[in-house]
Amino acid sequence: MHPASVSGDGDVLTVCAGGSLRGELQVPGDKSISHRALLLAALADGSSAISGLSDGADVAATAGAVRALGATVEPTGKAVLVRGGELRESPGPIDVGNSGTTIRLLAGIAAGCPFTTVLGGDASVNRRPMDRVAEPLRLMGAEVTGVDGGRRAPLRIAGGGLRGISWQPPVASAQVKGALLLAGLFAAGETVVREPVATRAHTEEMLATFGADVRVAGGEVTVRASRPAPFDFAVPGDPSAAAFWAVGAALVPESEVTVRGVYQGQGRDGYLRVLERMGADLSVVPAGDRRVDVTCRSGPLQGVTVAASEVSDLIDEIPVLAVAAATAGGPSRFEGVGELRHKESDRLRSVVEGLAALGAPAEAEGDTLVVHGGARLRAGNLDAAGDHRIAMAFCVGGLAAAGGETVISGWRSVATSYPGFLEDLARCRVS
Ligand code: S3P
Repeated sequence: MHPASVSGDGDVLTVCAGGSLRGELQVPGDKSISHRALLLAALADGSSAISGLSDGADVAATAGAVRALGATVEPTGKAVLVRGGELRESPGPIDVGNSGTTIRLLAGIAAGCPFTTVLGGDASVNRRPMDRVAEPLRLMGAEVTGVDGGRRAPLRIAGGGLRGISWQPPVASAQVKGALLLAGLFAAGETVVREPVATRAHTEEMLATFGADVRVAGGEVTVRASRPAPFDFAVPGDPSAAAFWAVGAALVPESEVTVRGVYQGQGRDGYLRVLERMGADLSVVPAGDRRVDVTCRSGPLQGVTVAASEVSDLIDEIPVLAVAAATAGGPSRFEGVGELRHKESDRLRSVVEGLAALGAPAEAEGDTLVVHGGARLRAGNLDAAGDHRIAMAFCVGGLAAAGGETVISGWRSVATSYPGFLEDLARCRVS
């Protein structure tokens, strides 16, 4: 039996426990940074070159969207060339697929453009809350309508004539902040986003690096009408992808995996701090240019409490950290994680059900996820609910489970962010 095989049209993964994980990997380019690189290049008047772009379907959706709005995006050897400038009306509705980041960030740009844009996605995206971007964009002067009183996609955005606002998002969200900052590039006056809790800073950092008029001070980001200049940019490795290998190496006996060139910056390195607190055998070595090489070796873990104030620094890593917590010697609490109910799936539910399938008790109580710990994971069958991070988190769980084969349906979703996950697994798995 192959240690991991897919069937059912690529949608069912069967993964066998055993062996160990050893070697070096490079994960795909960071998804958040890749989206923003494409969007900013589309707004820059001229040609930009982006290397190391994520090869996932979400980022392909952003590439398709900026093409629909008149930018050209051409793969050339190692880099992708984007020719941007004045955007024009899309000939039809734009399909963002499964990508919440695409629809929310693009809503900000569409709000700034003097034409109508229709943005929709798959069933998951069309279920997710859009009022968090629609409401402030309306206050800026865009006409935003949608399903369920304008709270869900598909969204129809008649843009142009924006004025800046000062906004404190009711939920900590880098997507909302990003959407407003992008709209602010088109608005008269200042657009100010005051964050209740700091979120990943890619939008403001990349806007500043590429020459737009943005200022960060005292928990506020302020942007004025401007455009980024064309740029050459290399996307660093995705920490949210690296986290699967760090946890995999921690859980699977006799493992040691190094992930090279992983982005390290605000809002993205919380998983490393949590794994350290759990006692993981981890080394994090600076690799220049805000990148680190992350090495993790197998060893016992202990339970951990993750405070609500830390959550925005590890929001996407909670599913795989919960799998780690299931095997830890003691209970873990993840506080203030209610936002996970609004991701690609209801991740609190998916995590609790997936852990139950592997014999590990956990429950979600209000905004808190409690993982009992002390479990010897055993192979089981589960559904990833079409959610890439759930699929990969439980593949890692399956690698560490006793008793044979773990079967995960909904595996196809992995293409969203990490199409080469199984090749990387094959690369570092030794029997
Ligand atoms: C992202 C922000 C986060 C994260 C998502 C990517 C981004 O979402 O979960 O995967 O690129 O801005 P929220 O803004 O909803 O927290």
